[in-house]
Amino acid sequence: MFIGRRSLIAAGAGALVAAGLPHSFAATRELRLAAGPTRAKLVGDGHPATDVWAYNGAVPGPVLRFRQGERARIVVENRLPQPTSVHWHGLRVPNAMDGVPDLTQPPIAPGESFAYEFDLHDAGTYWYHPHANSAEQVGRGLAGAIVVEESQPPAVDRDLLWVLDDWRLDRGARIADDFGHPRDASHAGRMGNTVTFNGAVPDSLEVRAGERMRLRLVNVANARIFGLRLEGHAPYVIARDGQPVDPYPVRGGMIVLAPGERCDLIVDMHGEPGERFAVIDAFYPQAAYRLVELVYAASARGARAPAAPPARLPDNPWKRPDTSGARRERIVIEGGMMGGFRGARLDGRQLDARALFQQGKMWALNGEVAGDHHQMAPLLTLRRGESVVVELVNDSVWNHPMHLHGMFFEVLSLDGVAPPRREFRDTLTLGPRGRAETAFRADAPGDWMFHCHVLEHQDSGLMGIVRVT
Ligand code: C2O
Ligand code: CU
Ligand code: CU
Repeated sequence: MFIGRRSLIAAGAGALVAAGLPHSFAATRELRLAAGPTRAKLVGDGHPATDVWAYNGAVPGPVLRFRQGERARIVVENRLPQPTSVHWHGLRVPNAMDGVPDLTQPPIAPGESFAYEFDLHDAGTYWYHPHANSAEQVGRGLAGAIVVEESQPPAVDRDLLWVLDDWRLDRGARIADDFGHPRDASHAGRMGNTVTFNGAVPDSLEVRAGERMRLRLVNVANARIFGLRLEGHAPYVIARDGQPVDPYPVRGGMIVLAPGERCDLIVDMHGEPGERFAVIDAFYPQAAYRLVELVYAASARGARAPAAPPARLPDNPWKRPDTSGARRERIVIEGGMMGGFRGARLDGRQLDARALFQQGKMWALNGEVAGDHHQMAPLLTLRRGESVVVELVNDSVWNHPMHLHGMFFEVLSLDGVAPPRREFRDTLTLGPRGRAETAFRADAPGDWMFHCHVLEHQDSGLMGIVRVT
């Protein structure tokens, strides 16, 4: 199957054309997203279509494209058999628009709608997904990419999105409905058996000799971490989680992308017409596989002059933390199997690990299991404008891509090593027994979620609140 730009544009065009609004600065762009059941051809010929849940009938959902500085009004209609909400992962939106049910809004009941409205302050690659019963709703297909274009985007021949997802399907290509299984919640999460690339099991992607591509990678899987190698190419990383970095080439290295994370790449297609190169996912070395093949079109095309390294993208307009004299906090992640978890508090009661497991709760942050959002005491309470250094300690043997809503944080160190260049994230993965130091400025008032983006971990307790007053 050919997964090219055309299918992406087709997926994205519906919503935007329907809005029918010409672009102008600070214009409000109106969109509708309906979440509901449909069928999708995930696995390809020879297999039946799969019953999925989707936005506007598409898996992944339509690409929401904006220009930096625009305003969005997005009416979400719930046609699912259960309550939902939409979270705009990575976008800095007012707290009431953040899409966390029972924290920032009431859940959207079946048959009802909710209008989200916010400004697009930051350029970059983001995504949207439900924040209610997340493991099942995202696991059945509800997720889509958001692209906010820079006012002066870098010159490239093509700007492509690779939305990576992972599904647990049975032999009839049906989604296994064992959502929230304790075996998944207490281990690595719901690992699937079928990886899709923009909503279908991919075969090859046609490229042209000499072109420069921007690739926007988004991992919307519940639990699978990707570790991509583009054989024969040296992509430059230009942004992580939508935030620019000093561009650096990934030579022979792996681009690691945990659930929730994004990575923007510039790739110069240095191959010759007719050549083929594999894109390998080798994050789990025992289970490495070819994700897709880059196939150079036979017709030669006048190659551009040898491309210089890409320039740094302009920074987004939010305030960097000031770590001198910042207060220090510590957040400890505990739980799961084989980690020596003894127990924690749930809704005000101290319970041992066994009693928690029996209630489907497997994880805690600073000794507190996420339960009823109304009763949760904040993990951190910060004054607006103050900077904080947060040490993250993974006292378990599992990977945890930890995600903060509402603000970007700087990575000061990971497992004791300072990153080679300044880097800001909304999601950072702690490996088994891993540690990190992060810093951010508490600029956005409200209650913000801080949680693991392995959705089975999130749903079984690995979530807390960061309060900015
Ligand atoms: Cu992408 Cu709280 O989530
Ligand atoms: Cu988020
Ligand atoms: Cu986790």
